[in-house]
Amino acid sequence: MYICVCNAIRECELRDAARRCPGDPDAVYEALGCRPQCGQCLDDAAELLIAERTRASAEGLAPA
Ligand code: FES
Repeated sequence: MYICVCNAIRECELRDAARRCPGDPDAVYEALGCRPQCGQCLDDAAELLIAERTRASAEGLAPA
């Protein structure tokens, strides 16, 4: 499933990036080599980043 249609960012890619890259969706998108365009995905992306980082933290996998 695509989280960001404009940049063709899949949910699994964003979950992986959430564990590797700090910051908000803008920062994570930049780390993925793109930037928000229409902006419609940003709320969902922000929620996904929080959820994935919370899960990673609970599993002891969060970056230091
Ligand atoms: S859907 Fe992500 S910027 Fe448009």
